[in-house]
Amino acid sequence: MARIVTGVKPTGDLHLGHLVGLLEPAVSLAQSADEVFYFIADYHALTSQHDPHQLEQHVRSIAVGFLAAGVDPNRIVLFRQSAVPEHTELAWILGTLTPMGLLERAHAYKDARAHRREVNAGVFTYPVLMAADILIYRGEVVPVGRDQLQHLEMARDIAKKFNHTYGATFPLPQARVEEGERAAVIGIDGRKMSKSYRNTIPLLADRATIEAAVRRIVTRSIPQGQPLPTEGDTILHLMHVVDPERAAALERAYQSGAVGYAQAKQQLVDAIEDRLRPFRLRAQQLLESPETVDTILQEGGKRARRIATETMAEVRRKVGLAVPARMRK
Ligand code: ADP
Ligand code: TRP
Repeated sequence: MARIVTGVKPTGDLHLGHLVGLLEPAVSLAQSADEVFYFIADYHALTSQHDPHQLEQHVRSIAVGFLAAGVDPNRIVLFRQSAVPEHTELAWILGTLTPMGLLERAHAYKDARAHRREVNAGVFTYPVLMAADILIYRGEVVPVGRDQLQHLEMARDIAKKFNHTYGATFPLPQARVEEGERAAVIGIDGRKMSKSYRNTIPLLADRATIEAAVRRIVTRSIPQGQPLPTEGDTILHLMHVVDPERAAALERAYQSGAVGYAQAKQQLVDAIEDRLRPFRLRAQQLLESPETVDTILQEGGKRARRIATETMAEVRRKVGLAVPARMRK
């Protein structure tokens, strides 16, 4: 039994990689936890987007994604990060303990420097806010994708530094990464499925969109009736991710030459449709009832803020800042 915390940045629509790599594992992990905090990292999203309307839309789509993937708001505290401004306050304090050198080594920051014309200070301090997100709930287990492991290492380093300076306060958070193919779902161009590569299978797409995406998977030209190579094949990989049983059958058909790429793609579209249908039905109901989603987020925000305020009272006292009466119990 442990306290679990994770966040998803609202910077685009959810895709198949999010569902199998993060949302579903986070939901099943929550079943054996004491306290679970899942949030939509809207403060973090501001490091890369400044369109308020779009931000609002993405926040809603992530909230719907969490709920449609099975988050039970009675058991899991689901909220927007910005409903709890204490995250940014803790981030400030943690920032005063974080060496510049640690942040300069961050892959995401180095990548931004290499590819963006202007890198804002938020990109640089991103890992400090992320550490605050976790530590403010004394998170112990953090389900994330593989690309977040370095951020988790940094959160541990920052927690250690705080504990060393001010006395034991925060548990050291552990990353929990899905194993195997689901940890890194491949997109239709053969690279990691990511909204930045425009190679995704969107979770709310209709059949025509899924068909169009699957059609774009590049295949070789191999005469009908010949075996197809299985190694590094994107169709097989995606089939495995959505339906391992059908993937095993398809793999046999590849080896015997019983299937061509066009049929394999058709089978994949059917399998994705079957896999996403229940998710999409739940998501559609939620999209038609935005007040339900808003109420869940507001309630979650209140619950999260109570706990965050308690942590901040202790942190303020330990570091020697004012502890206003409203924060004292
Ligand atoms: P994207 O790469 O599409 O921008 P994010 O960086 O917002 O996705 O990822 C949100 C979470 O979902 C992270 O924990 C990430 O590791 C996980 N995730 C994203 N893409 C995939 C994928 N293709 N396979 C597995 N997990 C993924
Ligand atoms: N950085 C994470 C991502 O890009 C999102 C995130 C923000 C997060 N705060 C977090 C994840 C705290 C886990 C815990 O996916």
